[in-house]
Amino acid sequence: MSRLRLEGVTRRFGGLVAVDNVSFEVPAEGVTAIIGPNGAGKTTLFNLIAGALPPSAGRILFEGADITGRPPAGIAAAGLVRTFQLVKLFEDLSVLDNVKVGCHLQGKAGLFGALLRFASAREEEAAVDVRARELLAFAGLSAFADEPAFGLPYGRQRMLELARAMAAGPRLILLDEPAAGLNTEESAALARVIRRIAEEGTSVLLIEHDMTLVMNTADRVVVVDFGRKIAEGTPTEVRANPAVIAAYLGTGKSATGAAVTASDHQETARG
Ligand SMILES: Nc1ncnc2c1ncn2[C@@H]1O[C@H](COP(=O)(O)OP(=O)(O)OP(=O)(O)O)[C@@H](O)[C@H]1O
Ligand SMILES: [Mg+2]
Repeated sequence: MSRLRLEGVTRRFGGLVAVDNVSFEVPAEGVTAIIGPNGAGKTTLFNLIAGALPPSAGRILFEGADITGRPPAGIAAAGLVRTFQLVKLFEDLSVLDNVKVGCHLQGKAGLFGALLRFASAREEEAAVDVRARELLAFAGLSAFADEPAFGLPYGRQRMLELARAMAAGPRLILLDEPAAGLNTEESAALARVIRRIAEEGTSVLLIEHDMTLVMNTADRVVVVDFGRKIAEGTPTEVRANPAVIAAYLGTGKSATGAAVTASDHQETARG
């Protein structure tokens, strides 16, 4: 059984079809990426999956259960969590407390949640502390545990957001452009963390414009353009797909993320 399954999902905003009859599956194992030009409907897809928006049509199944139209808190509690395109942290709380809030907020899903259910308040607090510190170590943030979140450099804030989302041991995590604004080194560290999340059994679905990150982390790629799925396959397959190349030509960017020059356009047109 796939971890997530979209069946003919559509979302209209007035006359605009932001997501148009999209179907794909996210397997339990590994990392799946969604790529596509700006405005293609990627974030809207996440909003539909996470329950922030109801679809106009179609069905969304999480671990076989129909979650279409369920409220976001219920979906998160079932083990499907997300991060946002723009960082949202509790800026005045310490780095450690941000992760602790994640432990408490994200319901009682997964192994860690089961542990909390049987604990007294004191034991629960101790377990949350241990778990939160483990996650900080995982995200390379141990040295910043007691600092306020607002003081972290941007790349570390993104890592903290990831650690917080991982706090309750989700079954599936949605990451919206996690590498946006990161430098090469931070992006490489992020890629390693994403691979580890997948290796430890959380399926990852990520939206990303940074094709280096996609090539380094994704096992499968779904490509969307104007709300429609136009291709699906391994990173190498989709990069060579003519429909994908054509979709990116109009944007002035190639599917490799590099700027496309006029001669590139002619090369592709000829090739
Ligand atoms: N709440 C909304 N109300 C009206 N239109 C919306 C809403 N959310 C998104 N849209 C529109 O839907 C289309 C898809 O937007 P979306 O944010 O999903 O694109 P995206 O692929 O995430 O783009 P980017 O790569 O720039 O983040 C856009 O035309 C956008 O303006
Ligand atoms: Mg977006």
